[in-house]
Amino acid sequence: MAQYSYTSLNNMASGGRGRRILLILVVPVFIVGLYYTYHRNMYSKPVGGSQLTFHHNVNISKHDETMSTVIKALYEPILHPITQHNFTDEDGDTYQLTKAPRFREKLGKKVLVLDIDSRPLTGPGQLMNEQLEWKGMRPLAAGMLSHYMYAQIHGYDYKFIRAPDYESRWGTWVKVPLMKEALKTHDYIVFMDSDVVFHYPHLPLEWLMNYWNMTEETLVMMSIDPDEPQNYDSRGNRYLNTGFVIAQSSKRTQNMFRDWANCPSNTRYKDCSRWKYEMFHEQSAFGNYIRYDYDRPEDIRVLPCVEANGCPQAVNRGGCKGTFVRHYWIDKGAVTNALGDQVMQYFLPRLHQMYQEPARENIVDAKGFRLDGAELVELTPEEQEAHKNENVKNQKDEGW
Ligand SMILES: *[C@@H]1O[C@H](CO)[C@@H](O)[C@H](O)[C@H]1NC(C)=O
Ligand SMILES: *[C@@H]1O[C@H](CO)[C@@H](O)[C@H](O)[C@H]1NC(C)=O
Ligand SMILES: *[C@@H]1O[C@H](CO)[C@@H](O)[C@H](O)[C@H]1NC(C)=O
Repeated sequence: MAQYSYTSLNNMASGGRGRRILLILVVPVFIVGLYYTYHRNMYSKPVGGSQLTFHHNVNISKHDETMSTVIKALYEPILHPITQHNFTDEDGDTYQLTKAPRFREKLGKKVLVLDIDSRPLTGPGQLMNEQLEWKGMRPLAAGMLSHYMYAQIHGYDYKFIRAPDYESRWGTWVKVPLMKEALKTHDYIVFMDSDVVFHYPHLPLEWLMNYWNMTEETLVMMSIDPDEPQNYDSRGNRYLNTGFVIAQSSKRTQNMFRDWANCPSNTRYKDCSRWKYEMFHEQSAFGNYIRYDYDRPEDIRVLPCVEANGCPQAVNRGGCKGTFVRHYWIDKGAVTNALGDQVMQYFLPRLHQMYQEPARENIVDAKGFRLDGAELVELTPEEQEAHKNENVKNQKDEGW
């Protein structure tokens, strides 16, 4: 609970003029407080009762108000340590590493967060338009901005690649050769469809790769799809979803992506050309052929649907609620709210903490008065004692 400081409102009792004075005072005090907390002590305090502990310090120059500093100020104090053995999610569920973490240091620019699209995206509400506002933003823009923000928070590289189209294949195929290219310049790539986001932007990829057992031999990590008839391949195994891919660069990874991209030529894999246009295109090619060809135990790490696929609205689709990685195939429109979530779940506790700072003057306790017509009359000590246990009168919980 907050410690509201009791302010005896002597001037309030005198009516409107006093209230105006109060307002005139409160506004600058609030602004000074905002400035002070932003630049100094706010980041050093742990916040109780939350999975987010604000225990780091951020050193921000008073004169640096660039957007990247704002992002740093919001997320850096609460970054989840890469080598921490556990992570507690917003529902209070705890996830533990099962072995000593392989990744112990930030990977920084060795990681590429990658968006790939062959469309111009210049229309109203789209990412490449010069103007973009919250109102009217299209879901793809929200998704890609979320990816960009994730890279900014953790210091990863980010690229949007405007891909050329294949002459004679469905559009989503372009991601295969372009992921392959990206793996020539970066040790790790994270490719996400634009309806995929990390639900906890403060949780580093290094932690997730530790948790999901990315080893030296792992080529790619992908999530399994929900247990539904359309998600099974010709051998009766469930597809892996190619909307979220973590890949590790190696010669074997290059070969795998090469074979995948060449799959529809029917040379190495018979009848793969079927998936040039047929659903689920490159995902079906991977599911029907590639994964059976690259089948060393460490080659392909299959992530649980509940953790890396779906979203809470899709929980009845095989429990795929997207604990760590949300994939909004059920409703792409929800991506905009997801981006809002990624900011608000961090912004809100900080705003609230600031609101409740002890000894602040924005919370005024007038419970030491009683209302008498238009007047506030200070209670006598005896009256105060009598009113002590009487909190609520003529009101309902958050009602009107
Ligand atoms: C913050 O930055 C200033 C100026 O760069 C430096 O002198 C100071 O030591 C830094 N403090 C911390 C806690 O890093
Ligand atoms: C998580 O790890 C921290 C630090 O090792 C430990 O103090 C805490 O008890 C752990 N929490 C759970 C729920 O395992
Ligand atoms: C990682 O390894 C642990 C222990 O062997 C296992 O329980 C867990 O399922 C593995 N995770 C993945 C994503 O393979």
